[in-house]
Amino acid sequence: MPNLKTTYMGIELNSPIVVAASSISSFIDQIKLAEQAGAGLLVIRSLFEEQILMDALRLEEELSVGADIFPESLSYFPDLEHGKADEHLMWIEETRKEVKMPLIASLNAVSSGNWVKYAKQLEATGVDGLELNVYAVAADQKINGAVLEAQLYEIVEAVIAEVDIPVAVKLSPFYTSIANVVSEVDKRGAKAVVLFNRFLQPDIDPKTETLISEMVYSSPEEMKLPLRWVALLYGRVKTDLALNTGVHSGLDAAKAFLAGAQIVQTASALHTQGVPYISTMIRELEGWMDEHDYKKLDDFRGKMSQRETDDPFAFERAQYVKLLLGQE
Ligand SMILES: Cc1cc2nc3c(=O)[nH]c(=O)nc-3n(C[C@H](O)[C@H](O)[C@H](O)COP(=O)(O)O)c2cc1C
Repeated sequence: MPNLKTTYMGIELNSPIVVAASSISSFIDQIKLAEQAGAGLLVIRSLFEEQILMDALRLEEELSVGADIFPESLSYFPDLEHGKADEHLMWIEETRKEVKMPLIASLNAVSSGNWVKYAKQLEATGVDGLELNVYAVAADQKINGAVLEAQLYEIVEAVIAEVDIPVAVKLSPFYTSIANVVSEVDKRGAKAVVLFNRFLQPDIDPKTETLISEMVYSSPEEMKLPLRWVALLYGRVKTDLALNTGVHSGLDAAKAFLAGAQIVQTASALHTQGVPYISTMIRELEGWMDEHDYKKLDDFRGKMSQRETDDPFAFERAQYVKLLLGQE
């Protein structure tokens, strides 16, 4: 039986197949199923900057209501229910007690600010690491790429300064120079980069002329984008590379490790096939390793990366030119 143990951000994992941040983490029975099926780790869905800011806004509103009624009373404090952010923290604490597998909390960040202090509170729940989800659509015409990248680095630095647990950065694929952004994030001390986040794309129904904003799960075809970037970056940065998007089978996972991924993260496959499907993925990966006579992941990790392959140009433009010109 091949050995699937690995480390990720310095954390020991029994398997390199990881549950990506998703609604699975909202259900304790599903989290337990993931652990039983052999998931190496589970990323809890993000605590969104908006949730924190909305809580702060509500608190401010309620405090000012109190101030109107009892302007003389300094000790007035409204009887607030737990805010969304607090509920999220409590949920993670409960989850921590229920399972043994490593857990990573996720913080969605689009701008730096005081709320970054929530990283510390997420750490206090007992999670093993923190994933920074920098999900934002760069739609402001006045803000150029350099400014956006500077904002990203500011957030990464602020969060890393806040916590002692390892921090991963989940990136969007829409940076002009992904290699440079990964290397800058690496220099700032991120222990992993997650390639890539997948944006929810709104659609338009031409019949009703309305917007459709529904969750469309990924297809295995979408894995080629992170696969290329993992292959290009393997061996060139210190930080671990987690491949995320389009991993739907054990063979997809095998491809990711051949490119150089340290782990794979999967969400759509588990949402469509059910969480126990992780064990099928693991069996498929083990079967493939047996067939190829690999005893452990390091026997083949990065073997097909740009640095190791016999055809280093395959991942770059040369191959594109060859194909377009119809040459072999
Ligand atoms: C229902 C659902 C909820 C998700 N919630 C989050 C989230 O809270 N934070 C996050 O970083 N990604 C979230 N994602 C994105 C996934 O973590 C993942 O990056 C994306 O689905 C691509 O992986 P896949 O092809 O395996 O689905 C969510 C995905 C799904 C399907």
